[in-house]
Amino acid sequence: MGSENVILKNFDKKNKNTTETKILARNITRTFTVRDSEKRGFKKFTAIKDINLEVSSGEFITIVGPSGCGKSTFLDILSGLSKPTSGELYIDGKLVTGPALDRGMVLQGYGLFPWRNVRKNIEYGLELKKIPKKDRREISQKYIELVGLNGFEDRYIHEISGGMKQRVAIARSLAYNPEILLMDEPFAAVDAQTRETMQEELLKIWEKTSKTIIFITHSIDEAVFLADRVVVLSSNPGAVKEIIDVNLPRPRKLGEIKNTPRFNDLSHRVWKLLHGINDENITNTATASL
Ligand SMILES: Nc1ncnc2c1ncn2[C@@H]1O[C@H](COP(=O)(O)OP(=O)(O)OP(=O)(O)O)[C@@H](O)[C@H]1O
Ligand SMILES: [Mg+2]
Repeated sequence: MGSENVILKNFDKKNKNTTETKILARNITRTFTVRDSEKRGFKKFTAIKDINLEVSSGEFITIVGPSGCGKSTFLDILSGLSKPTSGELYIDGKLVTGPALDRGMVLQGYGLFPWRNVRKNIEYGLELKKIPKKDRREISQKYIELVGLNGFEDRYIHEISGGMKQRVAIARSLAYNPEILLMDEPFAAVDAQTRETMQEELLKIWEKTSKTIIFITHSIDEAVFLADRVVVLSSNPGAVKEIIDVNLPRPRKLGEIKNTPRFNDLSHRVWKLLHGINDENITNTATASL
């Protein structure tokens, strides 16, 4: 399927609807040239190998895996910021050759502009989209309130805390309103309470806007709570170990879902995969055991 315009369709049996494939990653491999201390030269290092993933339009995918297994490397490729060494990436059936405005990204290291204040950082993507100033103001205000940064709009980035920086990065991506939201550990630096609020708010936004979201996290609970499917990666080189269907009902509220037997089963299953514990008796989806 090397054509520029492959039309990909999925049949969603449950809803009897035809759902479009939004993202198709085929055999994505990325190698880096790294220093070889033994030979005093350079060698090739394979960060990720043959990652295949098909994501439907409006799906919420979370990715978990050990540190260094290639999660960020894969997300960079999805964004178009970095190219795979081999393999192809299609968005809406079109081969990706670089970054595009339809994909917004929340980077692991915030990626904020120190010369802009909080509001101006949040409005950056809106400026790129040439949205008039008045509308920019209105949109940025909405997201400033959503992430709880009222009163900090005029602060520069070095004048706010790590968790606040992360919230600015999230607000910036949401305000920009991309079709695909790529989020690299977006809630890692926020306090536990804010994190839970942000998880629920993100789900509300996703439900309203039917964005396609790819979300990396180290938190198993977060991965299960948010996702339609959890992609578990293994390391050396990074590869898909298993993809787990999270068929928990929606809309989800943390208070109602956490600690239910189904939620605990799914979390435990992901935990086992991450710890390399195989259990043949564990079924492929959560429903069978409930
Ligand atoms: N530009 C680069 N040059 C060389 N090696 C790199 C480069 N970027 C990443 N790597 C290596 O590729 C591997 C995957 O890195 P990556 O940042 O994707 O991991 P990760 O799964 O996101 O980890 P973490 O959970 O710690 O964020 C690591 O071994 C890393 O050292
Ligand atoms: Mg990373």
